Amino acid sequence: MKVLVLGSGAREHALVRSLAADPDVTELHAAPGNAGIAADATVHRLDLGDTAAAVALAKALGVDLVVVGPEQPLVIGVADRLRDAGITTFGPSQQAAALEGSKAFAKDVMAAAGVPTAMAHVCENLDEVDAALDQFGAPYVVKDDGLAAGKGVVVTDDRTDAREHAAACLAKDGGRVVIEEYLDGPEVSLFVISDGEHVVPLQPAQDFKRVSDGDLGPNTGGMGAYSPLPWAPEGLVDDVVARVVQPTVDELRRRGTPFVGVVYAGLAITSRGLRVIEFNARFGDPETQVVLARLQTPISRLLQAAATGGLGTLEPLRWHDGAAVVVVVAAENYPGTPVTGTAIRGLDEAAAVDGAYVLHAGTALDAVGDVVSSGGRVLSVVGLGSDLAEARERAYGAVDAIDLPGSHHRSDIALAAELGEIRLP
Ligand code: AMP
Ligand code: GLY
Repeated sequence: MKVLVLGSGAREHALVRSLAADPDVTELHAAPGNAGIAADATVHRLDLGDTAAAVALAKALGVDLVVVGPEQPLVIGVADRLRDAGITTFGPSQQAAALEGSKAFAKDVMAAAGVPTAMAHVCENLDEVDAALDQFGAPYVVKDDGLAAGKGVVVTDDRTDAREHAAACLAKDGGRVVIEEYLDGPEVSLFVISDGEHVVPLQPAQDFKRVSDGDLGPNTGGMGAYSPLPWAPEGLVDDVVARVVQPTVDELRRRGTPFVGVVYAGLAITSRGLRVIEFNARFGDPETQVVLARLQTPISRLLQAAATGGLGTLEPLRWHDGAAVVVVVAAENYPGTPVTGTAIRGLDEAAAVDGAYVLHAGTALDAVGDVVSSGGRVLSVVGLGSDLAEARERAYGAVDAIDLPGSHHRSDIALAAELGEIRLP
């Protein structure tokens, strides 16, 4: 099978790494990729905002499967254009991707499907915002309705900050803002592969959204993750499939917009039970890095079965027993405007750490072929081990070997889980 992966983050590098090790994959391409992906696949130039160029590239390469990584090309319809051109594609249509692209649409689908989620109001002016903030009280949860790369959400006890963020969201073209009830309890990310009808869950992971240790500082795209979740309630995955994902997939099919790809359910396990925080229409980054690290079944079969309506007959997935931890190394000033163009040293030393490897995100090659930073989240350092303690030790051992001046990372990824300190409400 010839496969093309669209995207340029560490999530796509994880997909490429799994596909490169897959005996069914004979040729592997990625666009636009990054310096690390280029070592594992043939990379091609591509503007991900140009759907026609993506179709032209897939056709020119004669690939059997396109796997779309990020949300932005999905939300502008790249999967529709590829399928229109007869190319087998893993990724939802533009309409189905609105599950992520519009929080208001997601709330509507959840209401119709009876999926438990936070109470919310979609507001179009500041009077509505004030009423909603008063109704729910602190902590306030204020979300941009559209895509915001994980940075559109503000959770704060400060009413002035909440109101200011709401005003900024409203000021955008067609701006709408969602104000919702605060959900207590630990968060879980579960990826569920869908062919539009049948679904196959992967293993759950936990993401660390805040920039600093102790869950302090602003939200980011994600600073680290781990899997499995030793503290998760028994039957969690089955519960999420039965109460959240299957009803959502059924509802989208009923509306004539079947979801083909991965439903990312962002969940909170609250004192009042399971609640959806958000849906995404793609693999999560950095959770994919740890989930795929543990998946033993060759991934091309799974993705192709989803893209061709064949999940109902797929054999059960096989998983490694151990644990995986990923630590994101971010550029100076991320999640603000990151400093780029900084030389990265120690990549070979990091890769030499037993049970660890480095996936690239914002990296590029400079004029002399050295790896330099080119984005906010620069590297995803993965550690595998028999348990979380060993996986952490290996991931941080490799992080310590990396020299990226000005960079920062969290030092507490998976720590509370390792210490058994995560309490269910
Ligand atoms: P989202 O982009 O919707 O996933 O939100 C980003 C992060 O904000 C989530 O992972 C949570 O940590 C936090 N968050 C979002 N919605 C809520 C909520 N209703 N209650 C508590 N925290 C939330
Ligand atoms: N890890 C969060 C996301 O991918 O949106």
